[in-house]
Amino acid sequence: MLTVRDPQKLRDVLRDWRRAGQRVALVPTMGNLHDGHLSLLERAHALADRTVVSIFVNPIQFGKGEDYARYPSTLESDSVKLSANGLDLLFAPNLDDLYPGGTDRDTRVTVPILDHILCGAFRPGHFSGVATVVTKLFIMVQPDVALFGEKDYQQVLVIKRLVHDLCMPVEIVAMPIVREPDGLAMSSRNAYLNAEERRKATLIYKVLSAAAAMIENGDLNYQGIEAEAMATLARAGFRPEYVSVRRNADLAPPEPGDRELRILAAAWLGSARLIDNVPIRLKQMR
Ligand code: PAF
Repeated sequence: MLTVRDPQKLRDVLRDWRRAGQRVALVPTMGNLHDGHLSLLERAHALADRTVVSIFVNPIQFGKGEDYARYPSTLESDSVKLSANGLDLLFAPNLDDLYPGGTDRDTRVTVPILDHILCGAFRPGHFSGVATVVTKLFIMVQPDVALFGEKDYQQVLVIKRLVHDLCMPVEIVAMPIVREPDGLAMSSRNAYLNAEERRKATLIYKVLSAAAAMIENGDLNYQGIEAEAMATLARAGFRPEYVSVRRNADLAPPEPGDRELRILAAAWLGSARLIDNVPIRLKQMR
């Protein structure tokens, strides 16, 4: 496995791969890798001849007072995992390489239609930070395909929309959430939970699954179901930001006749902000 920090060196390697007619996959990450990331890598191997994983903790997607300064940095153990899983190239750029103009005054990319709803309402500027860094990574790597996990479902839609609107020739592949045996969605931020919070954290998936089952069984009182799910989480000691039933394709509120929905939630537990979501498929009306 090659580890590259310098974007010029990255370009040299990529040029050789392209000359050999090889298809390239990119898995963008912020490191602290878990099995969710490794599932993206495994799928990338199946979809391309060469795979690049990027590790970069992107300051501009963190708000004031968020966890940028304490975000776990584990480059050495990440490298070992990636190498053991057959990665071709680890790209770990420096801050100056991605933000040559500085992080305060640089050019930004926004996807206005998805920017201010759900997580965007609670984390102003977050999705613009994601869209900006992903655009830069796509320009540097020029992948044929890029893979993202559905735990950050809104992020996946932001990136699909970005690629569509900016006419980028990149296929976006979304991979299902990888869960711990007790149902908790894998996330680097689970490391912030103490033992008691970690036990409690499974509730978020249980609540979403129960709500999804109620809807699939014909209860279409979405507002009532959302409110009850919020109250259950709050009673258990979470500080829920939202629980919301949305249309799967674009996260708009569901309209009568929509069949593919998703219930999404964000809730604080101790110092960890947890997000999760569950798909909902309504039966065809007879
Ligand atoms: O999902 C993440 O880890 C990050 O948001 C991403 C896509 C790597 C951009 O920094």
